[in-house]
Amino acid sequence: MAETINQWAVITIVLSGVALVFGVYFIRRGNREAHLRAMATASALATVFLVLYLTRLGLGYEKRYAGPSEWRGAYFALLISHIILAAVNLPLALGALYNSVKGLRIAGNLGNIGAPAARKYFNRHRAWVRWTVPVWLYVAVTGWIIYLVLGRYGEVIKG
Ligand code: HEM
Repeated sequence: MAETINQWAVITIVLSGVALVFGVYFIRRGNREAHLRAMATASALATVFLVLYLTRLGLGYEKRYAGPSEWRGAYFALLISHIILAAVNLPLALGALYNSVKGLRIAGNLGNIGAPAARKYFNRHRAWVRWTVPVWLYVAVTGWIIYLVLGRYGEVIKG
């Protein structure tokens, strides 16, 4: 049960990273509508991930690294950076979302985001996403790597 939840957690965080890449691609091509949909999908998947992850923690399921000792340091560096940036990603994503939604409400529609009152929020949106996108991608990719490493070298210690 906890193992299945863990698998779905990894699937959702990786898919949120894929949706994020699509969202960036769409806005680079000027397609705001597709950008909005891709980012809403990425955010929804990340929320599902969070729920699954917290459920897994609640169930007390945990795995420990039991692989080659020469890789232990690299593994923990990856794990710690992943945990810290995953926590940082939440306020970053909320800041990016808040400014885009607020800007869109003021603009009325995506064709009008250049309106001065809305522009202020989209400029802030751009400032937030400069950090949000790389952090989010790092968290998604390293989460997947950690899952693969523990699949090969992990040892269940609880659950
Ligand atoms: C957390 C989710 C989101 C992320 C990570 C994100 C990411 C990005 C990125 C990377 C850019 C390009 C910035 C640049 O070229 O400097 C951008 C621009 C933009 N985003 Fe988002 N976005 C998100 C959510 C949204 C949502 C929900 C909307 C619509 C309500 C939206 C509307 C826009 C618009 C209109 C632009 C163009 C802004 C401009 O031309 O100045 N974004 N976003």
